[in-house]
Amino acid sequence: MPQSMRALVAGKVGEPTDVLRLESRPVPTPGAGQALIRVKATPIHASDLHVLRGRYGFSPEFPAVGGHMECVGRIEALSPDTEGLKVGERVVVAAVPAVPGHHVVGTWQEYLVADTRRILPVPDHLSDSSACQLAVNPLTALLLVTRELDVQPGEWLLQTAAGSTVGRLVIQLARHLGMRTINVVRRRGAVEEIKAFGGDEVICTEDEDLLQRVAEIAGPAGVRKAIDCVAGLVGAQVSQALAPGGEVVVYGALSTHRQTDPAALTIPLQARSVIYETKVVRGFWLNRWFGTASPEDALHALSQVRSLVVDEVLSIPQGQPFPLERFTEAIALAETPARDAKPLFVFEDGRDNDDR
Ligand SMILES: NC(=O)c1ccc[n+]([C@@H]2O[C@H](COP(=O)([O-])OP(=O)(O)OC[C@H]3O[C@@H](n4cnc5c(N)ncnc54)[C@H](OP(=O)(O)O)[C@@H]3O)[C@@H](O)[C@H]2O)c1
Repeated sequence: MPQSMRALVAGKVGEPTDVLRLESRPVPTPGAGQALIRVKATPIHASDLHVLRGRYGFSPEFPAVGGHMECVGRIEALSPDTEGLKVGERVVVAAVPAVPGHHVVGTWQEYLVADTRRILPVPDHLSDSSACQLAVNPLTALLLVTRELDVQPGEWLLQTAAGSTVGRLVIQLARHLGMRTINVVRRRGAVEEIKAFGGDEVICTEDEDLLQRVAEIAGPAGVRKAIDCVAGLVGAQVSQALAPGGEVVVYGALSTHRQTDPAALTIPLQARSVIYETKVVRGFWLNRWFGTASPEDALHALSQVRSLVVDEVLSIPQGQPFPLERFTEAIALAETPARDAKPLFVFEDGRDNDDR
């Protein structure tokens, strides 16, 4: 076991490529209830960049290792009190800090210590790209569709940013469970792709009226259930497209990314429609879900997601691997519109194949 390792560390809040530095740090030692993980792959999510910019729902203490969501790796060491996990086992770590309460773990480093209640073994045949993205977006898709909104077979679900990883997972889950999706995308080029992917209906905000198209598809009353990760004016239109008593769960705010004008960080709602049509607009945040779910329920939900991915009901779009040294390039890709793949940091461990 080496004494030191490489880590991508932000000294302070700021623009990620300005504040991140590649550093050498001591390999940590697992405490009670913890495992030492040798990281193999870890994604760059939009939320990871929000955290570094100081614009997310929690803030780590700086200097902080970047990446606060998830990774795949192998267990290198375990605290003696641990049951059910083995040294050498390939595992996914749901590092998402629970709010309130959980300490923050950075995943953009070669080794990390994690709470064993957030570790799930995964089979070797699951690629590193899929495994390292298993705990956040697929879990979010599952919770939104089945627990937050309890969408029924045959029912319409309206969703924005349908081409996102979460959006694609929702489409696959909806098909599996017999629900119908109305998918909103911002580019005409994405329409055929989302239809071919299994989206029942696709609305393109570049050249179509969202409200009119929802009325044509679901009827003039609108839809009863929606999820939105764009917010801003698109989120407002989604709330208008709801049927009386309908509900939209807002789980992201992509249109507000990199905005600093406070007015751009809102979802302007029509008060009369919210009141007289008793529409519900509420949020979902995985960190808060982890903060309220019992550790057993959280592991149960994660193992449900693992089964859906292993059984190929859900396929997670292939990420693009980068070594830690190329972080500037990887972060630029994370924020490029119409990119094909989510960037992932990958580490060699001398045991697995590179082509996973
Ligand atoms: N609340 C939670 O707990 C939770 C959990 C997981 C994810 N999320 C959120 O869910 C969202 C999606 O995450 P992801 O990892 O699935 O995303 P992703 O794979 O990185 O994909 C981003 C997608 O969003 C689209 N997009 C970006 N900016 C947009 C805008 N201004 N208007 C419309 N579409 C836009 C892109 O469209 P183009 O193809 O046109 O570029 C792309 O399809 C993010 O906001 C993320 O933070 C929240």
